[in-house]
Amino acid sequence: MARILVTGGTGYIGSHTVVELMQQGYDVIIVDNLSNSNQAVLDGIAAIVGTCPEFVQADCCDSAAMDDVFTRYSDIVSVIHFAASKAVNESVEQPLKYYRNNVMSLITVLETMRKHAITNIVFSSSCTVYGQPDAQYLPVDETAPLQKALSPYGNTKQINEDIIRDTVYADKSLRATILRYFNPIGAHPSALIGELPNGVPQNLLPYVTQTAIGLRAELKIFGNDYNTPDGSCIRDYIYVVDLAKAHVKAVQRMLSGDADEPVELFNLGTGCGLSVLEIVNTFMQVTGVKVPYQIVGRREGDIEQVWAKADKANHILGWKADTPIEQVLMSAWQWEKKLRSNN
Ligand code: NAD
Ligand code: WQD
Repeated sequence: MARILVTGGTGYIGSHTVVELMQQGYDVIIVDNLSNSNQAVLDGIAAIVGTCPEFVQADCCDSAAMDDVFTRYSDIVSVIHFAASKAVNESVEQPLKYYRNNVMSLITVLETMRKHAITNIVFSSSCTVYGQPDAQYLPVDETAPLQKALSPYGNTKQINEDIIRDTVYADKSLRATILRYFNPIGAHPSALIGELPNGVPQNLLPYVTQTAIGLRAELKIFGNDYNTPDGSCIRDYIYVVDLAKAHVKAVQRMLSGDADEPVELFNLGTGCGLSVLEIVNTFMQVTGVKVPYQIVGRREGDIEQVWAKADKANHILGWKADTPIEQVLMSAWQWEKKLRSNN
């Protein structure tokens, strides 16, 4: 069976994708420098799948190390490139760290792929490239105009998309699939893998679950005076397991030669927008656990509302994010409880 190189494969989305790949019969080699994950994630993957994926601790910016991986695993047929730094605030404070890590790792991966004649890559992009779409572009599809990035992190996604397009244009043997994720949440139903936020969570769901379990005194809801039905911001929250499955579809499509274009681009979302208050209230309903919260002022740089039109991925990839939000929120809660029971 074919082998997939998963960079960042011990991370949140990467680990869930490795599970789905292995369950579909792919061999996997993970390369991760463990800068934002833990090697114990491999045990979780092994417990779910029954075998442990191959793992190399290395930095994707390290050409020699990447060359060694491609030499040792000569059966690699595609790369899924998750490895990146992703904290938006940190990227504002340390832009060079983000430009170096996120841009250099992609360049190194592409260079090494070309050297070893590996022709397929899936790249993790983000809905952040759309910024706040004008009302006429909501829900946002892949043809909506991009907006100037609000953070260095967001800018690395735009730059990396361009690097991929230019590289594929110049090397006609290459194929790429760019996946723009909306807001991934939740954890594997086994509660053996999930999100491991570092320090105080910046994202909504980990903050909700940490508040529910008593680790944080209260959730701060950033604004209820937006131009939305309940005044809080709207996002497209996508279950991480549904998201992971889209990667398998994307790899299969490239490997079977079905791609219509050398670079294909897909929004990965549910197609449904939910507000912060809807998320918090639904979480309390399904778990029966109270989440103390306070409405505070708007968070600087927040987008008011964005959700995906995911028809292209639905029709062309034959994929749909259809796990009910109640089940998704419950999975996040089970994971939080599991995490704390271990500590
Ligand atoms: P994560 O931090 O959990 O996973 C990223 C993994 O990459 C980590 O295990 C980290 O140790 C590793 N890594 C970072 N730099 C590396 C390097 N130079 N070499 C080797 N390994 C390296 O993040 P995630 O949420 O799983 O995100 C995966 C990808 O999806 C990222 O590219 C991220 O930008 C993108 N993305 C995430 C979200 C989100 O909300 N989680 C949304 C849109 C896009
Ligand atoms: C969601 C909503 C907050 C925390 C970020 C990145 C983006 C992308 C996804 C990678 C917003 C509100 C949050 C809290 C709150 N990542 N909120 N209290 O802002 O959509 O995007 O993650 O590409 O680049 O910027 O996600 O989870 O931070 O926020 O009220 O404590 O929850 O205001 O409306 P966001 P988020």
